[in-house]
Amino acid sequence: MMADSKVDLPERHFNQLRSLVYDHTGISLSESKKELVRRRFSPRLRELGLRNFGEYCELISEGQTQELTHFVNAITTNLTSFFREPHHFEYLENQLLPRLIESKGAHKKLRIWSAGCSTGEEPYSIAISLQKAIPQIGLWDIKILATDIDTNILARAKQGVYSVDRVEGLPGHRVKGWFYKGRGDNSSNVKVSPKLQEMIHFKRLNLMSPWPLKNHFDIIFCRNVMIYFDDQTQKRLIGRFCELQMEGSHLFLGHSESLYRVTSQYDLIGHTVYQRVNGAQRVSYA
Ligand SMILES: C[S@@+](CC[C@H](N)C(=O)[O-])C[C@H]1O[C@@H](n2cnc3c(N)ncnc32)[C@H](O)[C@@H]1O
Repeated sequence: MMADSKVDLPERHFNQLRSLVYDHTGISLSESKKELVRRRFSPRLRELGLRNFGEYCELISEGQTQELTHFVNAITTNLTSFFREPHHFEYLENQLLPRLIESKGAHKKLRIWSAGCSTGEEPYSIAISLQKAIPQIGLWDIKILATDIDTNILARAKQGVYSVDRVEGLPGHRVKGWFYKGRGDNSSNVKVSPKLQEMIHFKRLNLMSPWPLKNHFDIIFCRNVMIYFDDQTQKRLIGRFCELQMEGSHLFLGHSESLYRVTSQYDLIGHTVYQRVNGAQRVSYA
């Protein structure tokens, strides 16, 4: 029933929404998220002129793709920041990239994937690290693929405009030269340098759907994404990453994520940094 500002969310409709989210995104919504769902979607129901969550479930189950996209955009958690988990970028710049540069020799090609890139801070941070750590970077063929399921945040990521406070606390050496301060109406914003934008290809990709990807990735960042998936979904996802990574490639996970009991195809070689191994033939850079 609809009261003035509150729409009830009966258990059966919450469960229906949970399975829709799970089927489409792999995200497991726990029981504790019921109130959040009710609050986030009540205004949407009113906007659509629907009387209750039952009607909303019907609408998205009927394959109204536009509403399904809206629904997914509203349910995802997009929390991110520049150089989040800074130890990963220190590792990238000081250890991993120097080794990769050496091992690549004349074959100066690098493919990196930021899977679940949110508003773009992660791929832009990666691009800055590459610019810093790769001498004569212009001689390299480098592509960073940055993907997310959420179309709204991807549009923001592509734009590369951020409020000044997103970069204010960062050490000068991380940001100097890579952000332009806005003027006039934009004075509270910064824009990332086009040099970084050129390195990144933003694309909508649902990690649960088939991936139109042919490349092998030297490095995959999939940080703070798997945390929303159940064990089975995590295993499937990691299995698919495996197929896109050659022996010796690297995978970065978020601070509370782990491959323990998920796969033996990666070795833990740093703080949530993994390296692809090939069965018994284990390669380490130690
Ligand atoms: C918390 S953010 C993490 C952002 C960034 N990787 C970081 O660590 O700062 C999680 C992101 O994963 C995305 N996501 C969740 N499920 C997804 C799916 N099935 N396919 C693609 N992206 C997904 C969300 O839209 C969200 O932007």
